[in-house]
Amino acid sequence: MSLEREAIRILRANDRGGFTIPTAGLYPFQWLWDAGFSALGWMKFDEARAWQEFERLFEGQWANGMLPHIVFHRPEATYFPGPDRWGTRHTPPTSGITQPPVVASFVRMMLEQAEDQTLAQTKARALYPKILAYHRWFKRERDPANTGLTNTFHPWETGADNSPAWDEALARVPVDPTLPPYTRRDTSHVDPSQRPHQAEYDRYLSLLEVYKRCDYDQLRLHRECPFRVVSLIIDCVLHRANRDLAWLSARFGFGDETEIAGWLEASQGAIEALWDEEAGLYYNYDRVQDAPIRVGTSASFLPLYAGTSSPQRAHRLVRTLESWAEQVRYLVPSTDPGHPSYEPQRYWRGPVWAIMNYLIAQGFAEYGYPEAAERIHQDTLKLAELSGFSEYYHPTTGAGLGGGEFSWTAAMALWWEV
Ligand code: DGY
Repeated sequence: MSLEREAIRILRANDRGGFTIPTAGLYPFQWLWDAGFSALGWMKFDEARAWQEFERLFEGQWANGMLPHIVFHRPEATYFPGPDRWGTRHTPPTSGITQPPVVASFVRMMLEQAEDQTLAQTKARALYPKILAYHRWFKRERDPANTGLTNTFHPWETGADNSPAWDEALARVPVDPTLPPYTRRDTSHVDPSQRPHQAEYDRYLSLLEVYKRCDYDQLRLHRECPFRVVSLIIDCVLHRANRDLAWLSARFGFGDETEIAGWLEASQGAIEALWDEEAGLYYNYDRVQDAPIRVGTSASFLPLYAGTSSPQRAHRLVRTLESWAEQVRYLVPSTDPGHPSYEPQRYWRGPVWAIMNYLIAQGFAEYGYPEAAERIHQDTLKLAELSGFSEYYHPTTGAGLGGGEFSWTAAMALWWEV
C-alpha cells in the first residue's frame, strides 16, 4: 500500500466522530496539538472533516479562554490520568493544562491551501474569536508581568514530557506524600524502556494535585507551582501563532492587529534572549532558578519556525544541525546526541518525531536553507517507509517506537508529503 493510502487509512481508523485520537489504547481522547497536525492531514482528502477537528477541540475551551490539552469526549478506560483525576468540572470533561498552541498557524495554512474557499473562510472566521480568546489567556494568565515569555507549569504542557530539559526542574518537585495511589496505563501499551520513568510520573501526578489545590487559578500557580519553565516549543509556536492570528485578523477585518503586535514585540526580543552564542542554539529557561537550561533539544531550532532569528543565528543553527547529523543516521533527534542525557529510544530524550521535523524544516526553508529542510524531509520519509507511522523513531536504527498507527505521523505524510 502506498504511504499516502496507508496514512488515510490510519486517520480514518482513528476517527471517533469529528475528532481524531492519536492512537488507540495509549491515547484514546482528543489532544490539543495532535488535533492540529491531524487536521492538516485530513485537509488533503476531506476538507470538511479537517475543519471539524478544530470545532470538536474548541468544545473543550474554558470560559477564561484556556484550551486544555485533552478533551475527554467520551469515557475510555485505557488511559490514565482520566477526567476524574483532573477534576476540572468542565463539560465535556477536560484536563486542566494546555499544550503548544499550533491552532492559529494551522488554520491560516489550511485557509491558504483550501480548495473549498467558501467553506474555509466560514470556518476560519468562526474559529477566530475563540483562538483570540485563547491567546489572550496566554498573555493575561501565563505572562502577567509582560516578560514576552510564558510560564509553563507542567512537562506535559510542553508536549516534550520527559525531555532532559526538564530533569532538574522536575527533580525539585516534591512527591506529594498524600498522592492517591494510581496505576500507569502507558506502560501496558508501550515497552517501558520507551516511556518516562516512574519517578517522573510521581511528579507529573504530584503537580496535578498542586493545580487542584490552586483550583486551576493561574495567578496562584505563578506563586505556588514548584515547576515553572519557559518552553521553547510553547513560546516559539505561540509567537508564530500570534503572527498568523494578526494575519487572520487583517484578512477578516477584525481589527485586533495592534493588540497582537504588542505581544509580538515583547516575545521577539525575549525569545532571542534565549540564544546561547557559544553553544550555537537556543535554550529553554528555568524560571524558578532564573537560569537557562543548558541542554540542546530539537526545540532549540524552533526560533526559525517562530521567525525571530537573525540570518546569522540561522546560519549557526545549520552548523549545529550538521554536527548533530554526524552523530545519528536520521534527523532530528529530540535531544542533542552529544549530551550525556541522550537516550535514543526513550520518548523525548532522543527519538525523532515527524511533527517536530516538519516545524524545524519549515523554519530552515523559510530562512533560505532548502538543503537542510530537504535533508530533514527525506529522513522523515525514510523513517515512515522503513517503520510505518510510529509515534517516534530511533535516530540511528530507524526503528519505530512508542505507539503505532499514529495519527500525527500519518498526517505529516499527507500534508508534508513524506
Ligand atoms: C501522556 O500521558 O503521556 C501525555 O503526554 C500527557 O498528555
